[in-house]
Amino acid sequence: MNPREWQNPKFLQKGREEARAYYIPYDSMDKALFGDKNQSAKYQLLNGEWDFKYYNAYYEMDEEIVFTDKIPVPSNWQMYGYDRPAYVNVNYPHPVDLPYVPDENPCGVYRRFFEMEDLESEVYLIFDGVNSCFYLSINGVEMGYSQGTHCMSEFNITPYLKKGENEIVVKVLKWCDGSYIEDQDFFRLSGIFRDVYLLHRSKNHVKDVMVSVDEKQLRAEVTMAGAKAGVKAYLYDGENLIGEQNVVDGKVVFSPEQVKLWSAEVPNLYTLVLAGCEEFIPIKVGFRTVKVSEKGELLINGVSVKLKGVNHHDTNPYKGHVMDIDDIKKDLYLMKQLNINCVRTSHYPPSPQFMEVCDEIGMYVVDEADVECHGMTTRNTTWAYESFHEEWPGQNPEWEDAMLERAVRMVERDKNFSSIIMWSMGNEAGIGKHFETMCVWTKKRDASRLVHYELASHAGNPEYIDVESGMYWHMPDMEKEGQKDSKRPFFLCEYSHAMGNGPGDLYDYMEVFNKYPRLIGGCIWEWADHVVVSEEGHYLYGGDSGEILHDHNFCVDGLVFADRSVKAGSLEAKAVYQPMTATLIVEDGLKVNVTNGFDFVTFGDYALDWNLEVDGDIVAGGSIETNLGPKESEIFALPVTMPESCKLGCHVNLSLKKKYTEVWAESGHETAMVQLTVDIPKETACACGEEKVFTVVEDKNDIKVLDAEENGYIFHKVKGYLTGVLKNGKNLLEAPAKMSVWRAPTDNDRHIKNSWGLFDGNNAGWCFNHLMDKSYEVTCKVTEQGVQVVSRGSLAGIARWPVAWYTVTYLVDKTGVLHVDVKADINKYKGMVWLPRFGFEFKVAYDMEQMEYYGMGPYENYMDLCHHTSIGKYNSTATKEYVSYVKPQEHGNHKNVKYLSVTNKELAEGIKFWTDGEMECQVLHHTKEELSTKKHAFELEENGTNIRIDYKVSGIGSGSCGPQLMDKYKLSEKEIVFGFKVKMI
Ligand code: GAL
Ligand code: MG
Repeated sequence: MNPREWQNPKFLQKGREEARAYYIPYDSMDKALFGDKNQSAKYQLLNGEWDFKYYNAYYEMDEEIVFTDKIPVPSNWQMYGYDRPAYVNVNYPHPVDLPYVPDENPCGVYRRFFEMEDLESEVYLIFDGVNSCFYLSINGVEMGYSQGTHCMSEFNITPYLKKGENEIVVKVLKWCDGSYIEDQDFFRLSGIFRDVYLLHRSKNHVKDVMVSVDEKQLRAEVTMAGAKAGVKAYLYDGENLIGEQNVVDGKVVFSPEQVKLWSAEVPNLYTLVLAGCEEFIPIKVGFRTVKVSEKGELLINGVSVKLKGVNHHDTNPYKGHVMDIDDIKKDLYLMKQLNINCVRTSHYPPSPQFMEVCDEIGMYVVDEADVECHGMTTRNTTWAYESFHEEWPGQNPEWEDAMLERAVRMVERDKNFSSIIMWSMGNEAGIGKHFETMCVWTKKRDASRLVHYELASHAGNPEYIDVESGMYWHMPDMEKEGQKDSKRPFFLCEYSHAMGNGPGDLYDYMEVFNKYPRLIGGCIWEWADHVVVSEEGHYLYGGDSGEILHDHNFCVDGLVFADRSVKAGSLEAKAVYQPMTATLIVEDGLKVNVTNGFDFVTFGDYALDWNLEVDGDIVAGGSIETNLGPKESEIFALPVTMPESCKLGCHVNLSLKKKYTEVWAESGHETAMVQLTVDIPKETACACGEEKVFTVVEDKNDIKVLDAEENGYIFHKVKGYLTGVLKNGKNLLEAPAKMSVWRAPTDNDRHIKNSWGLFDGNNAGWCFNHLMDKSYEVTCKVTEQGVQVVSRGSLAGIARWPVAWYTVTYLVDKTGVLHVDVKADINKYKGMVWLPRFGFEFKVAYDMEQMEYYGMGPYENYMDLCHHTSIGKYNSTATKEYVSYVKPQEHGNHKNVKYLSVTNKELAEGIKFWTDGEMECQVLHHTKEELSTKKHAFELEENGTNIRIDYKVSGIGSGSCGPQLMDKYKLSEKEIVFGFKVKMI
C-alpha cells in the first residue's frame, strides 16, 4: 500500500486484466444453455462471511493484522457499524484538493481462504464492485490494485497460488483519487459491495468476444488468451440448435432464417455458445437495431419508440448499495408492471446481473459510466459548471486516462447486452476535452448504439454526441426543443423529480414527448427512496447519522418507497406510460375509439374489459375481443343502452389485462385503464327531508339552532365559526370548523413553501401557516328557507395583508340540512402568491374514521396527479388514507368529490358532506400542523380525525428539483364561490 498510488490519478491499477465482455464459462454445453452459473465447475463464488478488520485511518493499520471481526461479502461496512452512512448530494464530503483525499482515510481489511486441489488451471479473481479502491494480496504477495467503484476488476492470480489452502487479503480504502470522479448523489458507503468470484480456466481460452447484431445477422469477434486454439460457435433458439460454425480468424457470422427480433416489449433472445478449450461460453443475443430517423426519432428495429424511463440507483434500506439478484428482479419486474420501458443506470454501470435481467424481460437501457464530479461546482461556492476548466478532471491532462478508462471498462464489460441502446459518459462532471476522447473511443468501438452525455449541452452539443439532452426542463423549453430543426433526438435524461408526494407533471411531459418526433422521452428521477434503517426500524436520511455536511432528505426521492411499495406517484407513472388510450363516441349508442399504444405488440394477448358505471354502480359490462395492432385504433360499439340521466355521474371504464403470465406479472395483471365520462343530464336532488321546527337560542357567545331532539348546529357569535354539529345533544365536532389555505408542504413545495409560509429566519413568505381569522360581523336571521347566519371577515397571515375577504352564509334549512356558501375575494394584493388550497377543516373524534365518498379514488389524487385514479364510489378509513412519506407532508386528497360521509365503526354516527358541484376532500388522523413540522414519519402521533372540505387544492408538480408548478395547476383565482352541505348521520 502506498498513499502516492491512491492519490495519483495516473495510477489506476496494478496486475489487473484488460477489460473484457462479461461472461461465465461452463464445463458443458447443457450447463451453458441452462445458464445457472453456480452449476459451472469453472465458476466459484467467494461471497460469504469474510474475516474483517476495520481501521479509522489507513496509517493505524497493524503490521500483523489480527482479524477480530467477520463481515459479509458483499456488503457496505457502514451498514455493519463501522463508520456511519453519510448522505451528501453535490458537495464532496471532504476538502476539494485533487488528487488528495483525507489522511483519516478509513480502511477495511478483508480476508478469506480457499482450497486448490491442483494447480492445473488458470485462476482469475473477479471483483464486480469495490468502493473506492483496493489492494489485493494472494498468499502474502501484494500483487494487485484497482479502483473504479462500479467497474469490474479481474486479476490472474495463478502465479501466486499453491496447492491446498490459499489466502486472499483485500485492503479497501474509503477514499482515493477516484472518489473525485465518483461524486454521485447518494449515501457514501464503502467496501466490497458486489460479488467476488473465481474462474478456473484452461491455459488457452476465449478472452473476449464482441457480438454485433442487426435485424438479420449476428457477427462475433473473438479474441483468445494464450495460444491459438480451435473455437466453435453454436447458435441456439431456446434449446434448438439453429447454426454451428468454426470461428475463423477470430470471426463468425450467423444469418438465421426468420429472425425473431428483440425489443423491450418482445424480448426474444437467442444463445450464442463459444465452445473450445474445454469451455462453453453462453452469450444471450437479441437481434435488434438502434437508429435515428431523419426527423430525429429513436428507431428500434425501424419503429419510432418513446422512452418511458426511470433512473435507477443501487439502493437498499438494509444493505446500502448491495443489490442481490432478488433485489434486481424485484426492481425490474415492478418497473415492467408500471409500464416503464427504459432505465438509465444512474450514475454508474450496475452489476452485470442487472443487464441480464433487462435483456431477458425487455428494458431499454442507458448504461452510464461511473463518472460524476458535481462537487467541483461547489468547491469555490459558485455552483458553476466551468466548461474546459483545467482544474476539472474532464479537462486536466493528468486525468485523461482515469476518465477514458471509465468509458472503456463500461463498454467492454457490457457490450454484448442487447438491452443497452445508449452509452452515457457519466453525469454532472462538467464538459472537458476528455469527454470528446471518451465519446470518440466509444463510437469507434461500438457504432451500433447512441452516445449520450447530458452536460454536452453546456458546450453546444458537439458533433461527437448522438443524442442531445437535458434535465428537469420547463414545458416551454420542451416545446421549443420539439420544434427545433435538428436531426439528433432529444432525451430528457432526468425529469419529474419523484420526491415525496409526487410527481405531478408526468402527464404533461408525456404529452409533449408524444407531440414531437425528436423528443424521444425521458427518465423520471428516480426509482426508489434512499434511506437507511435504524436499529429501531426507523427510516433515516441525511443528517440522521451525525454527518457534518449533508443534504437532508433529498435522497428520499423515489418513484417507489425504499421497500419498493408503491405510492400515488408510482401509479401515475404507470397510467401515463400505459399502452392504451381511448375516447368516447356518442352516436347510435355508446362507442369507444381505442388506440393500441404498444410499439410491437397486438392486443391479442390482452383482455379488454369494459363496464358502464352509473352513480358508482356498474350497470353493464363485457369484454371486447380484439387483435388491434401496435399504434392502430379501432372503434368498438358497446352493447348497452345509454342511460337517460344520473345523479352523480356516468362513466365507461376500460381495462386492459394480460392474458398470460410472464415472470414479471401474473395473467390478469391490469396494464392499462381508461375512464371516459358519459355526459348525460343530472337529476336534481330532491330537498325532501322531513320538516322540523328549529329554534334559535342565543347566549353569550353561541347561536344555537336546534330541533326538539337537540339535533342542529351551533355558531360562534363573535367568530362566526360553526362550532357544533349536534346529534341528540351530542356535539360531533371536537373543534370549530375553520377556513384555511395551508397544506403541509410536500417535498415538491420545498421552494414555494417559503413564499407561502413563515419558516426559520424567513421573512419573505405570506405566513399562511400562521393564519388569523378576523371576523367583521356575524348576523343571524330567520328567513323563508330557514335560519341564516352570515359571517363576514378576513383571513391573513401574521404580519401580512389579508389573503382573503370572505362572506360565509350558513343556512339551516327546515329539514335540518346546513348549507354552507362561501364567497371570497382572494389575492387582491398584487404580487401575492397563489394558494396551497382553500376550504374548511372539521375535527371529529378519532373513531369516527370510516369514510365513504363518490369522487376520485381509490388512491390520493391532485389536479395534476390523478391519471391513475377513476371516479367512483369508494370506502376507506382515515387510517388507510395515511401515506407514510418518510418526511411527513400533505397527502390523502381526493378531487371531484360529490359526497363524503365520515362515520364511526358501527356506521351509527357521523357527518355527511355533499355538493351539487364538486369539492375536494381529505380525511386523516394527522393535522396539517404536525405534518408541516415533523421531520420523520416515525415521529407522528395520531390526533383525532381531521376532515378537509375544499374548494380546490393546488397541484403537486415536481418542483423539488424540477420547474415550478405550471400555472394551470395553481389555485390563483381572485374570486371564489364555493358551497357544500352538511348533515349529521
Ligand atoms: C440531478 C442529478 C441527480 C440527482 C438529482 C436530484 O441533477 O443528476 O443525480 O442529484 O439532480 O435528486
Ligand atoms: Mg449530482
